[in-house]
Amino acid sequence: MVKVVICGAAGGIGQPLSLLLKQSDYITHLALYDVVNAPGVAADLSHINTVVIPAGVPRKPGMTRDDLFKINAGIIRDLSEGIVKNCPGAFILVISNPVNSTVPIVAEVLKRHGAFDPRRVFGISTLDVVRSSRFVYELDNSIDPRSTRVTVIGGHSGVTIVPVLSQIPGQKFTKEQLDLLTHRIQYGGDEVVKAKDGAGSATLSMAYAGARFTSAILEATVAGKTGLVESTYVNLHADEESTAAFRAKTQLEYFAQDVEFGREGVSKIRPLPELSAYEQTLLDAAIPELKVNITKGTAFITDAS
Ligand code: NAD
Ligand code: LMR
Repeated sequence: MVKVVICGAAGGIGQPLSLLLKQSDYITHLALYDVVNAPGVAADLSHINTVVIPAGVPRKPGMTRDDLFKINAGIIRDLSEGIVKNCPGAFILVISNPVNSTVPIVAEVLKRHGAFDPRRVFGISTLDVVRSSRFVYELDNSIDPRSTRVTVIGGHSGVTIVPVLSQIPGQKFTKEQLDLLTHRIQYGGDEVVKAKDGAGSATLSMAYAGARFTSAILEATVAGKTGLVESTYVNLHADEESTAAFRAKTQLEYFAQDVEFGREGVSKIRPLPELSAYEQTLLDAAIPELKVNITKGTAFITDAS
């Protein structure tokens, strides 16, 4: 029995994501939950081993992801309470923005109930990886965007998105190309928000990315496949040993990095790839903003009376 629930299933992401996951051979029961258009699903909230959360409001032009915190923080807190009560051991995959802060909110709610396993909570930053492959391909048609996976580290907003383009085999981008690519990857979400002109943010590409990430988790946790790797935003305590030096140096508790999956979720957080001087500068800019985002999410729960 492999049960997956989508919280926010009636939304722009939730609908196509549900359709894609409906085709998964690993899922025996797909439960669709939303505050609108999906009555009666509360009874489904048991025996669930994976919860994907695309619930909450998307951006409008001129907004940052952090501007969504005011509304989405409470939604994520309440959904996390529901998860703790109904399926405390579930793998939780968070799409709702701002991911840099919503993942710490989930973790703090679970901690309050003594139910936090850092190997089981993920911020889905796969869209940054998908965009990276696509944008690199647009610059260099000789690479295959399906098989060229770019590691993206940091977080999921603006300067916290750090694509490690130096690791693409055979690539020698000029400074100008690096500036262009990096900016497109960091602000790819804004391109969609602007184009949709008030009607929301990325939905179809996100559903694709969300389905890809969910499938990887299911393949590892349900089917026991090994060697699956995705960049994802996690609590670094999911792998104490591999991250000890990085945590001590940066004081970060959450970070997006290449993660290997196993039966229990995170099996290993890979060490940082070797960064070019260009990428090190990007990372240096990402760290202070990540800290602010993480503290904001954590404090939303710990400072609440
Ligand atoms: P949307 O408004 O189309 O859909 C959101 C859905 O969530 C709606 O159907 C709404 O009824 C539902 N919802 C609200 N509160 C809920 C609750 N308490 N329980 C269950 N459902 C609830 O928005 P969308 O375009 O699908 O985007 C959803 C979120 O995903 C936004 O926060 C957006 O910023 C984020 N997003 C993240 C990424 C990423 O890369 N991680 C990419 C795109 C969008
Ligand atoms: C994205 O990267 O497309 C999402 O995070 C949505 C957004 O607000 O840009």
